[in-house]
Amino acid sequence: MQNFITLNQIDEAADAIKKRISIQPIVGIILGSGLNALADSVQNAVYIPYNEIPHFPVSTVEGHTGRFVIGDLEGKPVMVMQGRIHYYEGYSMQQVTLPIRVMQRMGVPNLIVTNAAGGVNPDYVPGDVMLITDQLNLVGMAGLNPLSGPNLDEIGTRFPDMSQPYDREYADLARKISKANGINLHEGIYTGLSGPSFESPADLRFLRMVGTDAVGMSTVPEVIVARHGNMRVLGISGISNKANLDGATFTTHEEVMESGKIITPKIEKIVRGVLREF
Ligand code: HPA
Repeated sequence: MQNFITLNQIDEAADAIKKRISIQPIVGIILGSGLNALADSVQNAVYIPYNEIPHFPVSTVEGHTGRFVIGDLEGKPVMVMQGRIHYYEGYSMQQVTLPIRVMQRMGVPNLIVTNAAGGVNPDYVPGDVMLITDQLNLVGMAGLNPLSGPNLDEIGTRFPDMSQPYDREYADLARKISKANGINLHEGIYTGLSGPSFESPADLRFLRMVGTDAVGMSTVPEVIVARHGNMRVLGISGISNKANLDGATFTTHEEVMESGKIITPKIEKIVRGVLREF
């Protein structure tokens, strides 16, 4: 039996956060592995560790600090997740996506989601960034959808449309900002797996065949829940490693964290530029 989360529990978490802040965030930002540094730029920041929020799962992975940083970025009120929760940590899909539910109950209408991903498209190299134009919900196809269980009718419908998981207007904005800053922004499809093991060469050949450009262990459930509640989403992957299609190299978490240092300034420029225009 999965651990479903009720609207009451979501509201208790949202209230605990609201009590500690005096601004109304207009965008939630999720920082992926190795991309934590972006939260350091938030001004007038209030820090709320996940373990001080009722019902909140706590991130256990190195490189995922596990707190909200709420304040101003480019003059816009933002709610940054410094560290996200992954399904492979042993939480239910509903727990993994609770932070998005909390944003929705707090009235946050936009989400910028970032992640570290393996480059399955052979043209990608570590350090590159990719605009996520669509996503492949392999975990969901296998039965693990964050919307399974009782529907939260107050937030969204039982069978939500997913024809546009990523907002086209925000995607255009990201393209424009990248161009203006000389950032080579790839565009592609992100496939979400459960992890925590990286993919075998056969996994990767399969993923490429079905249209994957980048693969990771997050994002897809969060975006489904965000869209269920009608948030507008911008998604950017940082390519932390080249997927090992021929079995000739290894993939390590250290490599993923290391590439974050090259990727962070690029993503920071894009996020700042987009925020300026919000
Ligand atoms: N595979 C899955 N998840 C990842 C990878 C990868 O190669 N790199 C960073 N997250």
